[in-house]
Amino acid sequence: MSSINEQLTQKFQEALEKYFGEDFKGVDPQVTTARDLRHGDYQANIALPLAKKLGKNPREIAQIIVSNLSLENICTTPSIGGPGFINLKLKPSYLEKELNFLKDDQRLGIDKVSKSHRVIVDFSSPNIAKEMHVGHLRSTIIGDCIARTLEFLGYDVLRLNHVGDWGTQFGMLITYLKEVYPSALIKPDALEIGDLVTFYKQAKKRFDEDTQFQEVAREAVVKLQSGDQESRQAWQLLCDQSRREFQKIYDELDVELTERGESFYNPYLENVIIALDTEGVLEKDQGAQCVFLEGFTNKSGDPLPLIVQKSDGGYNYATTDLAALRYRIQEDNAKRIIYVTDAGQSNHFAQVFQVAKKGKLLPDTVEVTHVPFGLVKGEDGKKLKTRSGETIKLKDLLNEAVNHARKDLENRLQSEERQESESFIDNVAEVVGISAVKYADLSQNRVSDYIFSYDKMLALQGNTAPYMLYAYARIQSISREGNIDYENLGSNGQIMLKEDTEIELGKYLLQLSEAIKEVENTLLPNRLCDYLYELSKKFNRFYENCPVLKSEESIKISRLLLCNLTARTLKLGLSLLGISVLERM
Ligand code: ARG
Repeated sequence: MSSINEQLTQKFQEALEKYFGEDFKGVDPQVTTARDLRHGDYQANIALPLAKKLGKNPREIAQIIVSNLSLENICTTPSIGGPGFINLKLKPSYLEKELNFLKDDQRLGIDKVSKSHRVIVDFSSPNIAKEMHVGHLRSTIIGDCIARTLEFLGYDVLRLNHVGDWGTQFGMLITYLKEVYPSALIKPDALEIGDLVTFYKQAKKRFDEDTQFQEVAREAVVKLQSGDQESRQAWQLLCDQSRREFQKIYDELDVELTERGESFYNPYLENVIIALDTEGVLEKDQGAQCVFLEGFTNKSGDPLPLIVQKSDGGYNYATTDLAALRYRIQEDNAKRIIYVTDAGQSNHFAQVFQVAKKGKLLPDTVEVTHVPFGLVKGEDGKKLKTRSGETIKLKDLLNEAVNHARKDLENRLQSEERQESESFIDNVAEVVGISAVKYADLSQNRVSDYIFSYDKMLALQGNTAPYMLYAYARIQSISREGNIDYENLGSNGQIMLKEDTEIELGKYLLQLSEAIKEVENTLLPNRLCDYLYELSKKFNRFYENCPVLKSEESIKISRLLLCNLTARTLKLGLSLLGISVLERM
């Protein structure tokens, strides 16, 4: 079903074409939700640019548009505000009609896209032998939400984990382990990830201090990359080790990913160089193969190069991304590729995209987007650390969130004198704890840094996961209290909107599709969070003002239908954020 915005847009397009003629077919009338809700629910802004183009007075143009509109079934008579905005107020009868349709629709009125295509979301992507850090956590949570949203809309999404499983660190690590712990290179399960990370740090130290070690480590990389059996096996074991640890986090977060690490593209790296050379964009600079960039200069203002092959013949992170881009377009047939990493990599992606365009690896028909995000900080505003000053392990961070949630719950149960089973407590603590971490991340504008605070993310009031989960559980408790089965309210029951808070809620329920569309277009999950938060508030206001179970039968049914529609909307919205609901909490 079309959203309110789409329906209004169509009506405006008809009016514009009717008056101004064929040339105006498909002009965007610029319909948005109203800036100032006192004037209406929606507004159309087309009169201003149109008047400018025609050299006319915008209010006059607005008047012409209004007289050609046939909106009687949707809005009260439009008014013209300010310099020429057309203000639209939706009729309750229209809202009722739409809601009564929505309540019987499995997908809550959100159609799948008419033309699906392959979208790749490249996210999470930690590095083997290194700890998965909070930056990777953000990437995982944001990437998963984007993937879920696009999947729901019907796109063919490939979720790729571009793990750092290739490169000099392995030469270093293998050389070092051969010395201190050779069995780790031949025996599966010989290492714990913690040890692996420690060994990695020690190996790095050796590498930085000892030139002879450096030499051997470099040889080891060459051996590995040329396919030497023994090195490959050792490398495989190290990767498996890390992979198992990463998987625990993904399981706890309920995130699915297909691993396709940097090593996968190894056979395709050389062809990138050949392709760039064929296009004539390759230049040699101090022995390295480079592509010079526009808009990136060094301190003295000279253009900066992107190195794609080092002077020793080796390839780098950028080469791998170029090979990956090529593979994803040619083999995966991707039409949109989304990269979710911290904002620190913005330049890297801008450069890779530019070089790919220059080298004709990236056609105009493919959209590539870097989705950057800010840092996670502690409550002191500094880098997130443990009390003793070490970097926080993700596993610990998630456990801590669940423990906090459990304590909150136990306190609440005690003050309410409620008795619950151990399994109930376990489940609620787990869902609330993990949801709180996810929601705290997603509800921020991802570009800003965000402060990680267990207390804030677990608060029952405010824009938090518990607040949203509570609204949902509250609606379920209404049905329990009234012995109501929401699924069988009787197909004859109709939603009727009488009270203001009821109208407000009903109107807002119809705007879910617009919120989801925004996430699709802007890749900002906080737009959906804002919507769900506002929805929960509107529901609470409705519930305070409008008796449900105590009303006479037809009103009671109508309100129960509204309650259920709200619950389903919350559940769907939260599921796109990767959050599952609780029937009781
Ligand atoms: N492994 C990288 C890191 O930890 C992120 C990879 C992102 N994806 C990509 N195609 N470059 O920073």
